[in-house]
Amino acid sequence: MADTTLMEKLVSLCKRRGFVFQSSEIYGGLGSVWDYGPLGVELKKNVKDRWWRAMVHERDDIEGIDAAILMHPRVWEASGHVAGFTDPLVDCKTCKARFRADKLQDAQCPQKPSKKPGEHSACELTEPRMFNLMFKTFMGPVEEQAAVIYLRPETAQGIYVNYQNVLNASRQKVPFGIAQIGKAFRNEITPGNFIFRTREFEQMEMQFFVKPGSDEEWFERWREQRMAWHHAIGLAPARLRWHQHGPGELAHYAKAAYDIEYEFPFGWNEIEGIHNRGNFDLGRHQEYSGKKLEYFDQAANERYLPYIVETSAGADRVTLTLLVDAYREEEVEGETRVVLGFHPGVAPIKAAVLPLVKKDGMPEIADRIYHDLKKQFPCFYDDSGAIGRRYRRMDEAGTPFCCTVDGQTLQDGTVTIRERDPMTQVRVHQDQLAGWIRARLA
Ligand code: GAP
Repeated sequence: MADTTLMEKLVSLCKRRGFVFQSSEIYGGLGSVWDYGPLGVELKKNVKDRWWRAMVHERDDIEGIDAAILMHPRVWEASGHVAGFTDPLVDCKTCKARFRADKLQDAQCPQKPSKKPGEHSACELTEPRMFNLMFKTFMGPVEEQAAVIYLRPETAQGIYVNYQNVLNASRQKVPFGIAQIGKAFRNEITPGNFIFRTREFEQMEMQFFVKPGSDEEWFERWREQRMAWHHAIGLAPARLRWHQHGPGELAHYAKAAYDIEYEFPFGWNEIEGIHNRGNFDLGRHQEYSGKKLEYFDQAANERYLPYIVETSAGADRVTLTLLVDAYREEEVEGETRVVLGFHPGVAPIKAAVLPLVKKDGMPEIADRIYHDLKKQFPCFYDDSGAIGRRYRRMDEAGTPFCCTVDGQTLQDGTVTIRERDPMTQVRVHQDQLAGWIRARLA
């Protein structure tokens, strides 16, 4: 299967089955902004829930917060985003397309896609100029320079400015972390690849505050733990790898950085960054706010500005990764079966309940089972069409378990569970059904 075909099939399945829709589609869409449909919102929520569980609920040394998207404009001066969160932009005067000057090699000339921008005789590229990626808006009724504020381009800053609040309000001591999930906005010049690079997206970020000198050890620990998390949500380890940032690639704040990359149909690309940010962030906020942000270590009787190890993943990117990783086509009895083979823990619907036929009391039993299960996890009831067709519809939605109420249910109370991946069937008593499914969702 050609790689572009796979992405096209996935985008089409996502629309057809209600994972992802183009934003404002009835108005022709809005560039690189996407909406999540009924299945997509569950999938992405499962990604975020599993991240929150692993980073906050299961740990004693990380606290969660939910900071506002709008922040004091000085935050973005201190963070370096006003001066430096820029990409070099070139325009083509002929076709009016815009490109990132540093990514021309990966782009296509819109007039002749076999050539790079600038290679076609008609291309007329401007000199690169720096373009700030932050979205600007105005606070209050007057649109003047003094009222400019930004939509946050990363969630991290909301954590740094709350570091002392969290420290004072909790019983934490360095080393400890603060985690947050939230929207971020970047006016990307060349967004694309479906929900891979968008202008509005969600980040799952954690900032771990450590004693200077222990940062390299924590950096290694966090690298290990974050890769393990991606394995635990079911991503194929062979399609994940590390990319270490070289000196020319490091962000202005980073002492060291590694990306976790996934092998997408459009190549290896970053899904999460792990950064050793040193004391850049607290140092800058201390300088710009005039507030002391040092930590007093009572045990050692010393003061220092903590170093920060950051883990930063995109919820939308991880969601796309799960979709790509799960998608497969198989030949079954002369027909193509499309399957989203999600790990049951992230699957949007955990189980479907299906009466084999619409008579003999089967719909009533199925309906009761469905409503019982639905109290515990997302389920789906389907009584329309042949049972094989119903299984296929659930395969395409990534539902791991189909529970069929059949003739034997009427006799002994058991139902058939058909498992999505091996397509094998087992019988389980209806009273044990919820436990049986739950045991497979971890
Ligand atoms: N606080 C550090 C930071 O924001 P980043 O490497 O710029 O680092 C971290 O972003 C993660 O956020 C990326 O690995 C990616 O998953 C996600 N991300 C960044 N830009 C994105 C975009 N335009 N669309 C979707 N996800 C994006």
